[in-house]
Amino acid sequence: MTQDEMKKAVAEAALEYVESGMIVGVGTGSTANFFIDGLAKLKGKIDGTVASSVASADRLKGHGIQVLDSNDAGQLPLYVDGADESNRYLHLIKGGGGALTREKIVAAASDKFVCIADESKLVDVMGKFPLPVEVIPMARSYVAREIVKLGGEPVLREGFTTDNGNVILDIHNMEIMEPVKLETTLNGIVGVVTNGLFAIRPADVLLLGTPAGVDKLE
Ligand code: A5P
Repeated sequence: MTQDEMKKAVAEAALEYVESGMIVGVGTGSTANFFIDGLAKLKGKIDGTVASSVASADRLKGHGIQVLDSNDAGQLPLYVDGADESNRYLHLIKGGGGALTREKIVAAASDKFVCIADESKLVDVMGKFPLPVEVIPMARSYVAREIVKLGGEPVLREGFTTDNGNVILDIHNMEIMEPVKLETTLNGIVGVVTNGLFAIRPADVLLLGTPAGVDKLE
């Protein structure tokens, strides 16, 4: 089974969480794209979606699926999104596509977060994937110095601006032993919008694509 086939299989499995009349939170990335494509078959059944990025909103609209403003949608029953890394506690690193802040907002406003990923994303200790931090442009240099004090190596994501008009510092070479603590510490640095650790609000279910089928962790 290829990596794309595993991503498609978990996306199809996540469709089973979609119920009639739901407004569904929809994530960003190649795995979430498979979910969006599958959701097109159920568009008559749901009451709409909230997208975690402009790219996902465009893809949803391309399928004729209604996209709502999160401010009008209220609390969501379900959010489905991918991840860049997950540990066994379903703490995640997200933001490889740069959509971390909107993803965190939709996750926070959702009752159930179903994460979909292929098995390569499951790790014992997070941090091999550089941890994205969204930063107000004016604070870039200050935040980078603070990250160095924490033991990380911040690298500016060149030529990239988030949907919110900010920059991303990717933190390299940091083993994340205490995800909740690091998420809190980074978010406390002035100028940080948020970081890509989803540990304070982890996923509730992880559907993991393997060559043998879809594993479920919760
Ligand atoms: C987007 O900002 C990320 O959080 C994605 O959820 C993450 O990068 C997963 O993407 P893939 O499904 O393409 O691996």
